[in-house]
Amino acid sequence: MAGTAAPKRIGVLTGGGDCPGLNAVIRAVVKDAIFHGIECVGVEDGFLGLIERRTRPLDEQNVSDILHKGGTVLGSSNKANPLKHVVGFDAEGKPEFADVTGQCVEYLNELGIEALVVIGGDGTMTCAAPFVEGGINCIGVPKTIDNDLHGTDITFGFMTACHIATEAMDRVRTTAASHHRVMVVEVMGRNAGWIALHSGVASGADVILLPEIEFDLDKVAESIAERQSRGKKYSIICVAEGAKPKGGEQIVARVDPTSPDPIRLGGIAQWVMQEIEAKTGIESRHVVLGHVQRGGTPLAADRVLATQFGHHAAHLLRTGQHGRMVAMQNHSLTDVPLLDCAGKQRIVPMDDALLAAARSVRTSFGD
Ligand code: F6P
Repeated sequence: MAGTAAPKRIGVLTGGGDCPGLNAVIRAVVKDAIFHGIECVGVEDGFLGLIERRTRPLDEQNVSDILHKGGTVLGSSNKANPLKHVVGFDAEGKPEFADVTGQCVEYLNELGIEALVVIGGDGTMTCAAPFVEGGINCIGVPKTIDNDLHGTDITFGFMTACHIATEAMDRVRTTAASHHRVMVVEVMGRNAGWIALHSGVASGADVILLPEIEFDLDKVAESIAERQSRGKKYSIICVAEGAKPKGGEQIVARVDPTSPDPIRLGGIAQWVMQEIEAKTGIESRHVVLGHVQRGGTPLAADRVLATQFGHHAAHLLRTGQHGRMVAMQNHSLTDVPLLDCAGKQRIVPMDDALLAAARSVRTSFGD
């Protein structure tokens, strides 16, 4: 839906798990907006700041010197969904929820905020959806290390996460080689195997286990044994946290009922390591990379992408566009309806070109 005029004042929030490049987007949006005479307000800790009425002015000075910094200067939260906000606990300790969208809208109106830039993944776009449906203009900017957001070919933060995972596996490789071990490295990604596939290929992992391809442990063990028979004394297995064996389940590390996305995956690497050691007799170890993949300084490529995304978000606002999400499709900067992206995950398709390339260099997917 196209609007008529550019807003005079906008809000900016970062929601969900943090990710390298968030500050670069904030900086790009604010600098562009201010240059065009639009005032900016920062909402603290994602949608939680809207619910708890916590905002602060954003000007050129407080977005200066943040381009290269990890995390988000605004803070973030993956526990705040205005549609289902925790307002208390019942006698059994179960959370009780209420829809507080109306009070958030009231707060936005009081502040004179005419549009909101929501920088986040599918959880954040889902939180923004009722605002868009209620007539509040939200412009989405796709963020997540998982790269699993529908509507865009890439999200910022993904390249940095892959780089960190690749570097970690390069390091794991030399110790694996020295000790003739199998090393199993667990990477993040929720239900999508993008980080595992890209970092696994980049680091030359011998086995890559993805959520999208149920694996057979015997096949994994066979490929390790086959390497041994060719004189390869060590192997690297890159496993996505959401991977699962044939007929088995994903391993859940924790459940947080107060979070809109309550399941946290984790623990598969240890299980695979134990099973492979038992099946092959080769001494094995596991490493969980965890939040290291999300922290620290963004790569140049993510800073560039985040700046392009931030600029495009500001452009959409200035030209009176409503309810759009910035996207990259076929290497071109574009935008799509935000409501089409909310709550939808983009997983690795079986015809992905990188899958074929990985198989052609004899990487096993355990299938
Ligand atoms: O979505 C980003 C992500 O890092 C996932 O890869 C991971 O499953 C999850 O967030 C971890 O969430 P938390 O920060 O709540 O532990």
